[in-house]
Amino acid sequence: MNAITKITPDIQTQIIEAFNFRHATKVFDAERKIDAAAFQTILEAARLSPTSFGHEPFKVLVIQTPEKRELFREYSWGANGMMSGSTGQLGTASHFGIILASTAQTMTAGSDYLQDHYRNVKNLPDEVIEIFNGAYGKFQATDHDITTDRQISDWAGKQAYIVLANMMTAGALMGIDSCPIEGFDMARTTETLRDHFGVDTASWKPAVMFAFGYRAKDPEFPKTRRTMAQTVSWF
Ligand SMILES: Cc1cc2nc3c(=O)[nH]c(=O)nc-3n(C[C@H](O)[C@H](O)[C@H](O)COP(=O)(O)O)c2cc1C
Repeated sequence: MNAITKITPDIQTQIIEAFNFRHATKVFDAERKIDAAAFQTILEAARLSPTSFGHEPFKVLVIQTPEKRELFREYSWGANGMMSGSTGQLGTASHFGIILASTAQTMTAGSDYLQDHYRNVKNLPDEVIEIFNGAYGKFQATDHDITTDRQISDWAGKQAYIVLANMMTAGALMGIDSCPIEGFDMARTTETLRDHFGVDTASWKPAVMFAFGYRAKDPEFPKTRRTMAQTVSWF
């Protein structure tokens, strides 16, 4: 049986059920922890995610030490419970973390970092590396105009959001709840990562936070979305 024939209506139902099950969980049951194998599966979904040119311009920090999580509380209004009258995702999630995005230092075409990545991660021969250098250089300079440090880290951040989406979907398929979080002060988060986590913030910038666990209660409101016709146009 090949991969295509395995996509049965039953799997389609499971996928849609998982997407309906997933909601942005504000408060988790702090007593319920995700087992190590299930969280490892979520991390594999991150690691195996697609990235532009296969450059993998992201890193995942998992922050489990309570004192370390507390360093973000003051300025992370999207995770500190100020909207739910609780300790928020920071205080209740089984697993909490940040996805970092690469900066211009490593993701500029021709960088030493990329030469090493092509050679030692992607196992490309020299002649193919030359093709990558040329194509990515053109992509940055003209196709997408991604040349400033901000543009490059924003571009890397886009890849981080794909990673996050895959992690959340993998979780939902296993009945694990999650929350994507960008309600935080970027500058202060960057400082915290530099001062308390040893992150080289010239090479890595925070993109988005995540929380995983099991919901403390069902969502108060039903999920709302635009209709399919409002969302999708066919030509
Ligand atoms: C990139 C991104 C950032 C978000 N940031 C936060 C956040 O900081 N705190 C929070 O509680 N929810 C956050 N959300 C959740 C959204 O508000 C939520 O996904 C949206 O309202 C739709 O609801 P649903 O996910 O429950 O279906 C974020 C969602 C995304 C995709």
